[in-house]
Amino acid sequence: MGILEKFEEFEGEGAKRYDKAVGRLSSLLYWHAIRDLRRFGVRGKYLEAGCGPGILAVRVARELDAEVTAFDLSADMVEIAKERAIREGVSVDFRVGDVENDYFGEFDVVYSTFSLHHWSNPEKGLKNLWRMVKPGGVLYILDARKEEFVGHGLRFEEFKSLFIHLESAERVEIRKRFPMMVSAVAVKGV
Ligand SMILES: C[S@@+](CC[C@H](N)C(=O)[O-])C[C@H]1O[C@@H](n2cnc3c(N)ncnc32)[C@H](O)[C@@H]1O
Repeated sequence: MGILEKFEEFEGEGAKRYDKAVGRLSSLLYWHAIRDLRRFGVRGKYLEAGCGPGILAVRVARELDAEVTAFDLSADMVEIAKERAIREGVSVDFRVGDVENDYFGEFDVVYSTFSLHHWSNPEKGLKNLWRMVKPGGVLYILDARKEEFVGHGLRFEEFKSLFIHLESAERVEIRKRFPMMVSAVAVKGV
């Protein structure tokens, strides 16, 4: 098994391994996300898709004083996330769910980090997340970016093309982010 594949397993021991590795790198991995989400300046209800072990969801709830619901396909990840929230004394509503099919209600901000390139149908997943964004709300995605033969995740143009299907988007901004990341911000028209 290659070094990357070891962190591409999200059940059982894979979930525990991911939690440990990401716990150590979290300030680097979530630097853009925390900064971008803070800049939106939205108070209210947040939904995180593919939350993994819940490190970012707990930070968003605490640092942005947001009401956060977060879900993941892996029940093992959700268990780790729930334990983290209890340990850190932060309230987050963690659920098991599939980004492509499940509906959790309407939110002011819907966001996801490093998960999209794992979805079997990213276009369907984004469409599903988009219907959970309130009018005037924001969809924010941060993911790994592949450059030529280097890196992990989707290529920039591939990632960008997924966002042309969002109906009634008032503004869509796709940016390359350092290092080897890509972000999307889509604002829903009112
Ligand atoms: C690389 S991890 C990212 C976890 C976390 N967002 C982070 O930034 O560390 C990818 C996560 O996406 C989840 N995932 C994959 N497909 C999914 C789907 N269809 N619905 C919800 N979560 C999914 C996996 O279970 C895994 O926890």
